[in-house]
Amino acid sequence: MTTVPLLEVRDLQVEFHTRDGVAKAVNGVSYTVEAGQTLAVLGESGSGKSVTAQAVMGILDMPPGRITGGQILYRGQDLLTMSEEQRRKIRGDRIAMIFQDALSSLNPVLSVGYQLAEMFRVHRGMSRRQARARAIELMDRVRIPGARERVNDYPHQFSGGMRQRIMIAMALALEPDLIIADEPTTALDVTVQAQVMDLLAELQREYRMGLILITHDLGVVADVADTIAVMYAGRIVERADVHQLYRRPAHPYTKGLLDSVPRLDHKGGELYAIKGLPPSLTSLPGGCAFSPRCAAATDLCRSQTPAVVPVAPGRVAACHHWKETLDAPAA
Ligand SMILES: Nc1ncnc2c1ncn2[C@@H]1O[C@H](COP(=O)(O)OP(=O)(O)O)[C@@H](O)[C@H]1O
Ligand SMILES: [Mg+2]
Repeated sequence: MTTVPLLEVRDLQVEFHTRDGVAKAVNGVSYTVEAGQTLAVLGESGSGKSVTAQAVMGILDMPPGRITGGQILYRGQDLLTMSEEQRRKIRGDRIAMIFQDALSSLNPVLSVGYQLAEMFRVHRGMSRRQARARAIELMDRVRIPGARERVNDYPHQFSGGMRQRIMIAMALALEPDLIIADEPTTALDVTVQAQVMDLLAELQREYRMGLILITHDLGVVADVADTIAVMYAGRIVERADVHQLYRRPAHPYTKGLLDSVPRLDHKGGELYAIKGLPPSLTSLPGGCAFSPRCAAATDLCRSQTPAVVPVAPGRVAACHHWKETLDAPAA
């Protein structure tokens, strides 16, 4: 039996026209997300994580952005070619997004209860009274203490963590099939980060939603992700099951990211950091974009861009030397 994935991004290409030239922000990205599954998209700042998500969500800055190739299939139907009406229905109702900065995503002059209730009034045609009751329920659901008393409070009256919970509530309101969370906890303290992430993971399981979790922080995703896609300079350089990827990375960049995460079992010693900086997207180096920073790079790497190839069942990598990396003894 073949089933159609909830979301499938195929060979997506996004460019930005800038003063410095054309920046290839997304350069052939493919991934799938199934119902009940969490895909973490990991990579340094500027690697194209948000732009990919914005293309899926239909909120890309166009211009200067332009989708120049690929497909974004929602249950097998291409969001890029379907009718505007169909597209609006899916993006408004079936896919929701959570951003890093709740303060700029929520309306500062409307109470949070009003903003939540509005979702039910506009999209579900509920009465004011019904919608307000549902708003309180949702605030309870994301564990905002004293939801009934706080329903008329404004966004700035909540702490950062509580505001992020309100964002989660907004995203959940219409019980979407897919949530895209773009660095949802990056602005929070570490302890609050963990609480918000646990809540998101719990609700994702309970509602059996697909979740795309975008982050630059490997530490955040270990416990919640099923699959990890590692992005570098607009491409996915490795995609694998979270345990396989942690145990045996196939790409030197992934290995570098892993080695730069502080580990409890490695006392003392210096923390490794990947040397150099990501390349300019307007003038990508020839061959593998990571080659200028890669200790294992050879002439082949500097002249030929490695294709994304299967390296094991269910996992892919884009590296000429994936075999050596995969076979290297774990540190
Ligand atoms: N509005 C924009 N205008 C011009 N270039 C942009 C814009 N948004 C993104 N880019 C380009 O796309 C690249 C990837 O951005 P982004 O996806 O936001 O990175 P991240 O992986 O940090 O989320 C940026 O480095 C930049 O070159
Ligand atoms: Mg981003």
